[in-house]
Amino acid sequence: MAQKSHTAAQLVSLARAAAAQAHAPYSGFSVGCAIEAEDGRIAVGSNMENACYRLGTCAEISALTSAQQTFGLGNVRRIAVAGGHIGDDGALAGTQAVLPCGGCRQAIAEARDLSGVDIEIVASSGDGGAISTHRISALLPASFGTDNLDDAKN
Ligand code: THU
Repeated sequence: MAQKSHTAAQLVSLARAAAAQAHAPYSGFSVGCAIEAEDGRIAVGSNMENACYRLGTCAEISALTSAQQTFGLGNVRRIAVAGGHIGDDGALAGTQAVLPCGGCRQAIAEARDLSGVDIEIVASSGDGGAISTHRISALLPASFGTDNLDDAKN
C-alpha cells in the first residue's frame, strides 16, 4: 500500500535519487523530481537532454507525465526538485536550491487548476543542504490557466 505521506526529507531524497538517472551530457546539470499524490503514491522523473539541444525535457515535466499515468494530475499534492552537477565522487553537488523553471511552473499550475489545491514545492540543492518550500500560487502568480479558456467560450 502507498505510504500516506512522506516527510519533506524523504521526498527530497527521492528527487536526488531520480537526478542520478538524468541524461544530461550537454549541460552536465542533473535534475530529479519526485511528486507525491494525495494518498502518498510517488512518481519520479529526471531531465533528459538531446543532441538537438532544444528537444531536452525538464525533470518536472518527466515526473508530471509519470504522475498522470500513475495517479492523475488532479491528485498531485507535493513536488520535490533537486539538481546540480555530478561531482568527481559521483554524488550530486551544488549548494543552491533548484526551483522549477518558468515553463515547469506553468505545467504545475495545470495540475493545481484540476484540483484547486495550491501544490507545495520543496526545492533542494544538489547536496541536499539547502531546502526551501514554496506554493505554486507564489511561484506563478497571475497565471494563465483553464479559467481563461472557459471564459473565452460563448
Ligand atoms: N532543468 C530541469 O530539469 N528543470 C528545471 O526546472 C530547470 C532546468 C534542466 C534542463 C536542462 O537539462 C538542465 O537542467 C540545465 O538547464
